[in-house]
Amino acid sequence: MAKQKLIIFDTTLRDGEQSPGASMTKDEKVRIAKMLEKLKVDVIEAGFAIASPGDFEAVKAVATAIKDSTVCSLARAGDKDIDRAAEALKPARSARIHTFIATSPIHMEYKLRMRPEQVLECAILAVKRARRYTDDVEFSCEDSSRSDFEFLCRIIEAVIDAGATTINLPDTVGYGEPGQYGANVGRLIQTIPNADKAVFSVHCHNDLGLAVANSLSAVLHGARQVECTINGLGERAGNASLEEIVMAVRTRHDLFPVETSIDATHIVPASRLVSSITGFPVQPNKAIVGANAFAHESGIHQDGVLKHRETYEIMRAEDVGWKTNKLVLGKLSGRAAFRARLDDLGITLASQEALDEAFARFKILADKKQEIFDEDLQALVTDAAVPEVDAKYQLDYLEAFSKTGTRPTARVTLLIDGVAQTQSAEGDGPVDAAFNAVEKLAPSGAELKLYSVNAITQGSDSQGEVTVRLDRDGIIVNGSGADTDIVVASVKAYLDALNLLAAGVIKAHPQKEGV
Ligand code: KIV
Ligand code: ZN
Repeated sequence: MAKQKLIIFDTTLRDGEQSPGASMTKDEKVRIAKMLEKLKVDVIEAGFAIASPGDFEAVKAVATAIKDSTVCSLARAGDKDIDRAAEALKPARSARIHTFIATSPIHMEYKLRMRPEQVLECAILAVKRARRYTDDVEFSCEDSSRSDFEFLCRIIEAVIDAGATTINLPDTVGYGEPGQYGANVGRLIQTIPNADKAVFSVHCHNDLGLAVANSLSAVLHGARQVECTINGLGERAGNASLEEIVMAVRTRHDLFPVETSIDATHIVPASRLVSSITGFPVQPNKAIVGANAFAHESGIHQDGVLKHRETYEIMRAEDVGWKTNKLVLGKLSGRAAFRARLDDLGITLASQEALDEAFARFKILADKKQEIFDEDLQALVTDAAVPEVDAKYQLDYLEAFSKTGTRPTARVTLLIDGVAQTQSAEGDGPVDAAFNAVEKLAPSGAELKLYSVNAITQGSDSQGEVTVRLDRDGIIVNGSGADTDIVVASVKAYLDALNLLAAGVIKAHPQKEGV
């Protein structure tokens, strides 16, 4: 059967960034975008340009750096949003503007306070305005799965006439059920007279754990673009996960009449990169990219796999990139080898200063840890990134003491705006004691919402990668830090979170009106 193309639209950098605490800096976004380009993602949604000056700059930087994928910015259906998106996308070789407005009765009445006729008019104007800047315009009917079928037909026909080339049908609140959602997409494609002039797309949220199932059902009913994210990152319970969509279509090629252009061998490195930058760990039993996804624990399974692999494996681990955990560099490796390995990993540091800093850290790490793996390099580069806002708090010195039968203590010296200050504190453990000392030096008024430690590689000499989530008056930030000493990694993560709070970047949220 001749396969049709399934367009993979990645929104890790936009919807993924809407996960509480997952916000990324400009350089981090560029690093992830380059990895997505290596994956051969068709469209990269780089952000929501009007959300903040930082978002604008990030979309612009991605548009400048990416050559092989289309770069997209989200824009609400209004002139200002669209003009800002177009401005940020100017450097792109191939640019898409993605504009949207809610179409469900509940959103139109209570959120937009608009009548359906006004929404229709607004949508047409938005698409026409976007078409002034690019031929590649996507229109989304927000909350489409709770929208009236007749109204969807009217608005979609009108926006295609106005020039929309992709029509996206988001299941914004994760309400869809695969049979019904897919059939509805199919019915729209059959009913709308000019449906053949646009690509139909889906964008599913995972509130009921059905995002991937809903997306795939829609593909079986004619959708030819899926919007998804690495590791299923995204608002609330997340979006459909890119790796699951791609591997389902590939593995069940007997069922799906489509194929993607994705180079799946970069899936695991992409998953690791996103996890280390956002500080969102991947659960071990996560399909495709979880540490246990290809681990056959039971004797019966192991025996079967050894005799004939396909007895229990439907995919090959190496096909999705499970091979990267190899020794790459050691103590004697020089700068050229270091740089070459970063290139292989798709990491280009923004400046000579960042490269020097990363190399210096590599040498320190190589003294502590004999074997340096790709995962160590990813963490090290994340740690060495030159902050885009000046870091108010920096770790200068840390001493932690714990002994059975005594209360742990820590002594911490921070450089606060460049000035050294020291405090000591006790705690329930050395990490708690160190955090208490930091709080004495830099009282944050924030609540610790999450503390997690993850071993980056195997072995007890592994670096610990720590995530600290702080919540101050509803502003949630995730800090991350890595080190072979987990108390040091923990304090680095805590300071990273404090620095993000201190930078105080306020962003508009695309789905809240009037921001
Ligand atoms: O979930 C949603 O509806 C969205 C749109 C803005 C596409 O993210
Ligand atoms: Zn969404």
